[in-house]
Amino acid sequence: MRILSGIQPSGAFHIGNYFGMMEPSIRLQDEGEAYYFIADYHALTTVQDGETLRQNCFEAALDFLACGLDPVKSVFFRHSAVPEVTELSWLLSTVTPMGLLQRCHSYKDKVDKGITPSHGLFAYPVLMAADILIYDSDIVPVGKDQKQHVEVTRDIAIKMNEIFGEGLLKLPKPQIRESMAKVTGLDGQKMSKSYGNTIDIFGAEKQLRKKIMKIKTDSVEVDHPKDPEASIIYELYQLFANESEVEAMANDFRNGGVGYGDFKKRLWEAYWEYFAPMRARREELLANRDHVDEVLKQGAERARELATGVLGRVRHAMGL
Ligand code: ADP
Ligand code: TRP
Repeated sequence: MRILSGIQPSGAFHIGNYFGMMEPSIRLQDEGEAYYFIADYHALTTVQDGETLRQNCFEAALDFLACGLDPVKSVFFRHSAVPEVTELSWLLSTVTPMGLLQRCHSYKDKVDKGITPSHGLFAYPVLMAADILIYDSDIVPVGKDQKQHVEVTRDIAIKMNEIFGEGLLKLPKPQIRESMAKVTGLDGQKMSKSYGNTIDIFGAEKQLRKKIMKIKTDSVEVDHPKDPEASIIYELYQLFANESEVEAMANDFRNGGVGYGDFKKRLWEAYWEYFAPMRARREELLANRDHVDEVLKQGAERARELATGVLGRVRHAMGL
């Protein structure tokens, strides 16, 4: 089974990225042949400063490796280190119906958020289809918001196979962990960089603590019973605490007598402890920049070999 996923290096990763995409991907690396990449070609649709993009890519690699991506088990690389994918993207675009792209939510959502509506942004799902199809991928672990893109990938592959021969491209399946499909942000909306409501995986202790301690709550008094299910604090706590700790918090909510400040403190401590081993590993990697560069270089070589073979197959079928 071949597993493939990518993540854009468009800023610091948050716990929504972690539980929605990174952690499931890392877990899957024991179950098949995993290919994971930092989607820098995609990030060009929003990051338009060379130095920033280079720095973001390096940080993204650090974060992913620190969180447990094992470059011995998985092939880990930068998207742009396999330029063959842009050729496949063009080949796919010649069979992609306009209507299919016009139905994609993410383009409209991004334009609504103020991102310039470029052709690249509109055609993004075709490049994403090429990303997936060029490795003959079986499974694509992503958060729920990417599900439509994997469906578009399947539609494009089906069309290619109808025109140029059955079996030419393998049909991938999205894999979404329903319990983590949507991690809630500090303001109750979906956690997202663009809403400024994130808790980052890594960062300065003081600022992160402050963010958690400032979560907005209702004005139910300390002594009164509270509903855990209505609280973001309780919701986020479940990501980090063990079963008995979660149960204890739920009871304290229902029984009254404990204030929100105390619950936030418990959330902070559980979160900070959860990422402690990852922080330590990140420090080690940071001191060994060459190792990170070498991992990406070797990953790119392995990825490129596979990609070149699949691209050759498609070129031939299409008459090139
Ligand atoms: P953002 O919304 O912060 O810009 P991205 O769109 O770059 O995040 O998402 C990167 C990956 O993380 C995708 O696979 C996406 O589905 C996943 N992801 C992002 N936010 C969340 C969330 N709040 N809950 C679950 N998964 C998420
Ligand atoms: N579009 C994805 C995101 O914004 C990133 C991505 C690019 C991706 N290519 C991919 C994810 C291929 C899975 C497979 O998060």
